[in-house]
Amino acid sequence: MFNKHGRLATITGLGIGLPDTVLTNHDLEKMIDTSDEWIRERTGIRERRIAGPQQATSDMAAVAAKMAMEQAGVEPGEIDMIILCTVTPDRFVPMGASNLQEKINATRAAAFDLNAACSGFLYGMAVAQGLIFSGRYQKILLVGGETLSRIINYQDRNTGILFGDGAGAAVVVPSDDEHGLLAYDLGCDGSGGDLLQVPAGGSRIPATRESVEQGLHFVQMRGNEIFKLAVRAMVRSVDQSLADAGLTREDIDWVVPHQANQRIIEAASSRLGVGRDKVIINIDRYGNTAAASIPIALYETAQRGLLKEGDIVALTGFGAGLTWGSAIIRWGRLGE
Ligand code: COA
Repeated sequence: MFNKHGRLATITGLGIGLPDTVLTNHDLEKMIDTSDEWIRERTGIRERRIAGPQQATSDMAAVAAKMAMEQAGVEPGEIDMIILCTVTPDRFVPMGASNLQEKINATRAAAFDLNAACSGFLYGMAVAQGLIFSGRYQKILLVGGETLSRIINYQDRNTGILFGDGAGAAVVVPSDDEHGLLAYDLGCDGSGGDLLQVPAGGSRIPATRESVEQGLHFVQMRGNEIFKLAVRAMVRSVDQSLADAGLTREDIDWVVPHQANQRIIEAASSRLGVGRDKVIINIDRYGNTAAASIPIALYETAQRGLLKEGDIVALTGFGAGLTWGSAIIRWGRLGE
């Protein structure tokens, strides 16, 4: 279908790349002053995946990308754009997307990183939609991939329990019909930037012996404040994108939220009036994988056979920046 801008963008392939190593709450009990019970009750997390010493973001992203391309029936040489959503690229320079482009041999693809933290995949969907509307790009590989374990201080119980590593990928192409991304909403409030940050390693505080000794290259977070803002922003954002799509809360078949905290997800879905049976939660197995969490959850939802053609799927998330967003998709068909 054509809307006022052009053809809709639709997902035809999904994939994931997860490290094998599992870090359980019981493992963490031996590392920091915490308990399995506290973590489960306050976050819903039981375990998370941790990358091996030789594994970086582009490695997991490549596994996810190959799986997504295979499902979509798209050859690497047909991909014309790669968007890697990440806050943990292999290196600062060059961008992670170029490592990914080489690994999957996507020789025709332009590529770039997108850093919108946990909202990355939502920002990426919006960018993919715009590129498709332009008529210039036809086969976009949109990947969320993170190796957060590299920037987490496992002596800090505030953050050490929450995060995990992994990647999720989607092939996004122009839709032939009325299925695809119907509307999205994105937002940012830079005044909340200090609530979740890695203070050093950038141009403000470059990496020095002192910065490393002070642990300033690790994530610092004021979780409690983020919690309340996250719930409010996600609810508002979903309402906004539903309105833009000409739909209402009752039209939602599935909510696939960013997996930051089970209590955040439950509070947001209950405020949206969406039943627990329509909300996808896999945080128990992966923790918070930032930009990777929505595509991993979407992949698992599809794998379980839950997504039917025509279903209205609401993606929503919130993260460092602060950033937030949502996307309303009329689900189409995976495969060629
Ligand atoms: N194990 C045991 N106790 C812990 C703990 C841990 N891992 N982490 C914190 N505590 C303690 C605190 O020290 C505090 O103790 P006190 O009352 O004696 O001071 C108590 O538990 C409550 O801490 P609080 O920070 O209020 O807990 P919380 O219910 O807000 O849960 C988070 C903490 C981090 C789980 C929660 O705030 C959260 O998930 N926030 C959102 C973070 C997020 O999503 N970030 C990423 C955005 S994409």
